[in-house]
Amino acid sequence: MSVLSRMRVLVTGGAGFIGSHACKALGEAGALPVAFDNLSTGHSDVVRWGPLVRADVRDRSALVSAMGQFNINAILHFAASAYVGESVTNPALYYDNNVGGMSALLQAAQERQVTRIVFSSSCATYGRPELLPIYETTPQVPINPYGRTKLICEQMLEDFGAAYGLRHVALRYFNAAGADPSGQLGERHDPETHLLPLALRAAANGQPLNVFGNDYDTPDGTCIRDYVHVNDLARAHVLALLYLASGQKSVAVNLGSGRGHSVLEVCEAITRVTGRTVPLTFGPRRAGDPPVLIADPSLARRLLGFATNLSDLDTIVTHAAPWFGLTERRIKVA
Ligand code: UFG
Repeated sequence: MSVLSRMRVLVTGGAGFIGSHACKALGEAGALPVAFDNLSTGHSDVVRWGPLVRADVRDRSALVSAMGQFNINAILHFAASAYVGESVTNPALYYDNNVGGMSALLQAAQERQVTRIVFSSSCATYGRPELLPIYETTPQVPINPYGRTKLICEQMLEDFGAAYGLRHVALRYFNAAGADPSGQLGERHDPETHLLPLALRAAANGQPLNVFGNDYDTPDGTCIRDYVHVNDLARAHVLALLYLASGQKSVAVNLGSGRGHSVLEVCEAITRVTGRTVPLTFGPRRAGDPPVLIADPSLARRLLGFATNLSDLDTIVTHAAPWFGLTERRIKVA
């Protein structure tokens, strides 16, 4: 029996965008993903590779009982509130859900003696870095409550590791984008705030995309981000579980492609792939947007054996576009 086929993994947020793709990757690798999700933002129809426990991540007794019922031996922790703007206007929700959720989860894991956890952290923990690319050693100085809650969660993992022997991998995602090419899964946020889905929607319905600022100190004046295909991210979670299963020590790694693309380059890729233009309006900068975020991805490569293989912009757009009715899905649905 392979290491993965013995894994019974609690996936908090398993009905969400990245969580559902990770459940698929786990299921295909032979593990059992148990999605634990309150469906506040997730969708039950994407839970297809294992059972769904409908409960809140702050509910410690529900966590303890799910871990017992399914004999869980590892955790992927996605469940969180994840809108930067909302975190500024409603920080109470972010500290309660993100920090409170982590606290309940870690206590439940301790009670059930689950000692391995992979955590969805974020490049938002770096804030506005002074130097690029961003290394894991770049100072973590978040500039909004969302980023601060993710940093606090990383610190909680460190503290629980030192005191109780829990081992973790914190995965600092850059900009998750794209969709599984099968058509089974995709990006369905409500409200949607992310660039690629909004730009695809604009190309489909002709309502202009508002570009948040074109006066940045970048080649075309718009912000640059490091876009990573969601299936590359999903695969990194399987690699992180294998890393922990091999007995290695806790670590935090960047998950990015190491390449940056501006807002206008994303729109140009949409036109290249779909033949449709993205109508644009140019508005003021969005508060809190750093001009450029690009990962140095080499630590994840060295420690986890992680490399992006779907994260070029055209592939990301090709896989995401059918969700918005822009192109035919050419790949047969399983
Ligand atoms: N953008 C627009 N118009 C829009 C939406 C976005 O111009 O309607 C621009 C943004 O200003 C930014 C880029 O597109 O320059 C990407 O924006 P997203 O909202 O898609 O992503 P962010 O870079 O803001 O957010 C990502 C992650 C967050 C994380 C953050 C850290 O999605 O979870 O990086 O900065 F917190």
